[in-house]
Amino acid sequence: MKDFDLTGKTCIVTGAGRGIGRGMAEGLARHGAFVVLAGRTRATLEETAHAIGGNSMVFTADVAQEADVVSLRDAVLARSGKIDVLVNNAGVNAIFKGIERTSLQEWQQIIDINLTGVFLCCKHLGGAMTQGGSVINVSSVAGHGGLPRSVPYCASKGGVELLTKALALDWAKRGVRVNTLAPGWVDTDLTHGLLGHDVHGQRLLDRTPMGRFATPDEMAGGVVFLASDASAFMTGQSLVIDGGWGAE
Ligand SMILES: NC(=O)c1ccc[n+]([C@@H]2O[C@H](COP(=O)([O-])OP(=O)(O)OC[C@H]3O[C@@H](n4cnc5c(N)ncnc54)[C@H](OP(=O)(O)O)[C@@H]3O)[C@@H](O)[C@H]2O)c1
Repeated sequence: MKDFDLTGKTCIVTGAGRGIGRGMAEGLARHGAFVVLAGRTRATLEETAHAIGGNSMVFTADVAQEADVVSLRDAVLARSGKIDVLVNNAGVNAIFKGIERTSLQEWQQIIDINLTGVFLCCKHLGGAMTQGGSVINVSSVAGHGGLPRSVPYCASKGGVELLTKALALDWAKRGVRVNTLAPGWVDTDLTHGLLGHDVHGQRLLDRTPMGRFATPDEMAGGVVFLASDASAFMTGQSLVIDGGWGAE
């Protein structure tokens, strides 16, 4: 277990108030990390802090706002003096419509949060990792292949995949590893409506070899692996956790 121990590490998780981010934050805390819970809604972040039961701090920030990200960095450095792990998890949904009916505003909102948010957090939070570290960008199977009627979402996640590879090259020599974790379908607020849909829900279950959506907690093992010394020689890669979706 020593390789997976995160005792003494300061880990920031964006979008930690619910869904996958909450599952990851709880997993990192179980392995000893001090976890910084970031997101836009204080109440849900505090619920995660309560579930963790100490060894965490809450900070409200919109990842698409540069001033918020800089304030988050300053608050974490004031509290911990360092940043060891950054999990860029905050993200918004595919809108499931054709490009002809997708407005510029809808495109921009998804790109701003899912891609520009990762850029800003890497720049200011990863950039402050002075003693080495690990950046984990939450991508998706939609960053590895197209999904129907999901152009902005797939473009944002594909962008995250290559941002990750490019940054891994730039930061390897300074001891900062940069990888993605790419989930398949996970039952969260983002996907629950889809899972409950008569036609689309069943189609996705049929298309997933394991025949079910993951739980958020099932993303925790992967993030602990990427955050810890267990993955010390891994950078610029994508860890796909998808119930077999990509095997076809
Ligand atoms: N669920 C899936 O099947 C699935 C599959 C592949 C990849 N993913 C990816 O996994 C990540 C988490 O998804 P999820 O399913 O857990 O979604 P979710 O349950 O909707 O949670 C999204 C989280 O992101 C936060 N967030 C959204 N916009 C933000 C912003 N501008 N600034 C800061 N925080 C923001 C939300 O909190 P606030 O609204 O309070 O800020 C919330 O905590 C996303 O990047 C998503 O694309 C999900």
